[in-house]
Amino acid sequence: MMKISANRCFPLITLISSLLILSGCNKNRPGDDDIVKNEPASSSLYATAMNAHLARTVNLGNALEAPHEGDWGMIIRKEYIDSIAAAGFTAVRIPIKWSAHADKVPPYTVDPAFFTRIDEVVGWCLDAGLNAIIDFHHYDELTSDPESHKERWLAIWRQISQHFSNAPDSIFFELLNEPHDALTADLWNRYLAEAIDLIRKDNPTRILIAGPVQWNAFDKLNTLVLPQDTLLIATFHYYLPFHFTHQGAEWVDGSNAWMGTTWTATDEEKQNLEDDFETAASWGQTYNRPLFLGEFGAYSKADSLSRILWTTFVRETAESKGISWAYWEFGAGFGIYDRGTNSWRDGLLNALIPH
Ligand code: BGC
Repeated sequence: MMKISANRCFPLITLISSLLILSGCNKNRPGDDDIVKNEPASSSLYATAMNAHLARTVNLGNALEAPHEGDWGMIIRKEYIDSIAAAGFTAVRIPIKWSAHADKVPPYTVDPAFFTRIDEVVGWCLDAGLNAIIDFHHYDELTSDPESHKERWLAIWRQISQHFSNAPDSIFFELLNEPHDALTADLWNRYLAEAIDLIRKDNPTRILIAGPVQWNAFDKLNTLVLPQDTLLIATFHYYLPFHFTHQGAEWVDGSNAWMGTTWTATDEEKQNLEDDFETAASWGQTYNRPLFLGEFGAYSKADSLSRILWTTFVRETAESKGISWAYWEFGAGFGIYDRGTNSWRDGLLNALIPH
């Protein structure tokens, strides 16, 4: 699993690069003038209507974004997809580690057998009446060494785009999960514009999803520069307070010290969360972009009442601001479904879809 250090909350590098953008220090590079400034979209009607299809989404995490499906214990099964649809979800987000299934040298061919497996999972979703997001997850080399991996990332997108060019509109593409590290806002804004151009050749009307740097932080939306394409949804992730949601998480340094952190819906806790969502929502209004909360969840080591209260309040706050959402995740460490007993964790499911 991804290793996140506790300083996920303290974005020094990103802060510096954002300041550079704001101060205009990067103006010397060719082509900068096109994309340094975000502009409101001319329309968001269709994207907003399509965003409603993501109203209640769950992430199929820990499966296809592992180096190989099953490495992290989770293999997607048709029964899971059918149960997700029956429970009232409208969509699934499918995190996929495409980079582990493509050649390392040009033309960076994606393994046809991997496409066949993705087609199978996507087919189950469509049969169940679910929308599905094809999410480009965990390309760690791209985030640590962007320049060396950009061409490969684009080449893989070209293949995905061609492969799904005739897929129904209920298939969405998400350009990259949680850009961070050396993939600064400046670089990311350029890269995403190139990727969108490329994808538009084969998918002129497909809804595409993209979010800001620092692991899609809500308070980095203000560094995101989207091209003038009206078929975009902006995404952000929400795991705050981080010491609560990630207590005991094996992949986060120092997180054992946070064990026992509760979230009891005090006025102050609720106000903080509402303020954060207001920051995101007001960015969406200013730039006329629909918003999708692509990940939120609290790890299973937090106490279950706190998890239920937090999940309920995040979900309600998002919905009150017209933000579609995707819980992280279905059947692993944050899971709302117990794969051992093949049953829902009722408290959490009810927090998401009251029944
Ligand atoms: C990562 C997961 C991680 C989750 C919560 C996701 O974006 O892909 O590996 O469990 O965030 O930290």
